[in-house]
Amino acid sequence: MQQEAIQEITQAPTLEALQQVKTKYVGKSGLVTKELGALGKLPPEERRARGAEINAVRQAIDAALQEREGILKRAALDEKLASEAIDVTLPGLPLPAGGLHPITRVYDDLIGIYQRMGYEVVEGPEVEGEHHNFEALNIPWYHPARDLQDTFWLEDGRLLRTHTSNMQIRYMVEHDPPLKMVSRGKVYRYEATDATHESMFHQLEGLVVGEGISMADLKGTIAEMARGLYGPTAQVRFQPSYYPFVEPGADFAVYWNNPRGESKWLELGGCGMVHPNVFRAVDDLREAAGRDRIYEGMTGFAFGLGPERIAMLKYKIPDIRYFYANDPRVIGQFRGELG
Ligand code: PHE
Repeated sequence: MQQEAIQEITQAPTLEALQQVKTKYVGKSGLVTKELGALGKLPPEERRARGAEINAVRQAIDAALQEREGILKRAALDEKLASEAIDVTLPGLPLPAGGLHPITRVYDDLIGIYQRMGYEVVEGPEVEGEHHNFEALNIPWYHPARDLQDTFWLEDGRLLRTHTSNMQIRYMVEHDPPLKMVSRGKVYRYEATDATHESMFHQLEGLVVGEGISMADLKGTIAEMARGLYGPTAQVRFQPSYYPFVEPGADFAVYWNNPRGESKWLELGGCGMVHPNVFRAVDDLREAAGRDRIYEGMTGFAFGLGPERIAMLKYKIPDIRYFYANDPRVIGQFRGELG
């Protein structure tokens, strides 16, 4: 029985099988246990020798069980370690990288162009006074832009600027001519949204003031911008238009080859020669702040344009609302690209 038991033990393939062998021989009603129980029926003179014999068998079986259990447990652990092993040499999971928003990219392009022409880049407040947003820009109370419906008003009488032209005023109050500046930032209009209209969007404002600045300088500047955006063959077109703070005023468009190979006029923004009333309003503000009246008699031009237009065409984004909806299907396309 000892030989049989030890053979079964050394051949038990798993811990469960070993447990069965253990029960078979040394369990409560196992074969060895039964032999021990039968001792009592033996005549007393045989009991001692028989008892010693059975105990020796039992010890041998116990020792074999323990050894086999050790072997099987180690094997099970090795298997577990092997199956749960982590390969630290595998490449890691990439972290989702951010990227520059399409509007930021267009701004970077535009500002790069103007910085190369020596413009200073400034930013200004989105919450603005009525005077800086309208009055000082020669926008009289009866102008449609003053319609309460078009402007987000704050309870204290201030407003969310409807254009970046407020920065013309702020910059001239602070700086003396000659000057060249561009100003980027958000603007707000209280209007119904659709594929080409948002209540918040962006503008780039430009202002150049000095002696003898002419419409030719304005046209050359816009043409230089168009070439910077769309290459050396880009053309510009000016159409008369009305903005109270410029005279003459114009809208400008760029002729460009779109991604489908078609040539199209792209309306980009408004521009014109700074209206004398604007210089006068600036001098009034300067005087009130204890500074010299210096702008009367100056000449200059201003322009304003919306980067959303450029970005929609450049990146084929069909709806302006996609820019600000934080939909990863739109924004994710620009992930990881930084230029
Ligand atoms: N501020 C004008 C607008 O928002 C654009 C503009 C700027 C026009 C400067 C002329 C000169 O529509």
